[in-house]
Amino acid sequence: MPTKQVEIHITINGEERTLSVKPEESLMAALRGASYFSVKSGCDDGTCGVCTVLLGGKPIRSCQTKAADADGAAITTLEGLSREGALHPLQEAYMETGAIQCGYCTPGLILCAKALLDRNSDPSEDEIRRALTRVLCRCTGYVRSVDAVQRAAAALRGEKPAPFTHLEQALPEDVKQIELPEGFYRRDGGRNPLPPLVLTPA
Ligand code: FES
Ligand code: FES
Repeated sequence: MPTKQVEIHITINGEERTLSVKPEESLMAALRGASYFSVKSGCDDGTCGVCTVLLGGKPIRSCQTKAADADGAAITTLEGLSREGALHPLQEAYMETGAIQCGYCTPGLILCAKALLDRNSDPSEDEIRRALTRVLCRCTGYVRSVDAVQRAAAALRGEKPAPFTHLEQALPEDVKQIELPEGFYRRDGGRNPLPPLVLTPA
């Protein structure tokens, strides 16, 4: 017997949409079914956060929300951040700093950062780190994400951040001559800073 469909009326990125969904269907599946492919599918059990969207401006895990329960809600996905072809400062900063990496978790990270910057225009590094912990990055690249959010926050405040220098460009060729802040080294006492350059220092 075919599963009964229900209609939901939902605002996605400022556009009113009517979607036909199954009663048990997740918001993640419904959004992807409606071609919002920035909404990623990861663990499907609420752990990884790559399915994050904003509901009423707050980050939620869309795999853990039934689409039917979002009836009448306002949803923001990454597709809704650019305006008239211009990328949002967070998107620009993620590209500039190389924080994108493989890109799979990037929509979720950027939406968590947007929710933070919408309520706090000048967050501390610690506040940024806490906001980003909602999303697990398999590439483990949180250092650049923090850089990106700080630069986007400055741009949104109307400041002009200094040109970004990738850490690799400032490194001497002989890896033994590199002296970095202690947090960038392996915690087992090893002195080779790569690849922990991309890990979040303690
Ligand atoms: S896919 Fe939703 S939390 Fe992992
Ligand atoms: S950038 Fe690859 S999973 Fe985060």
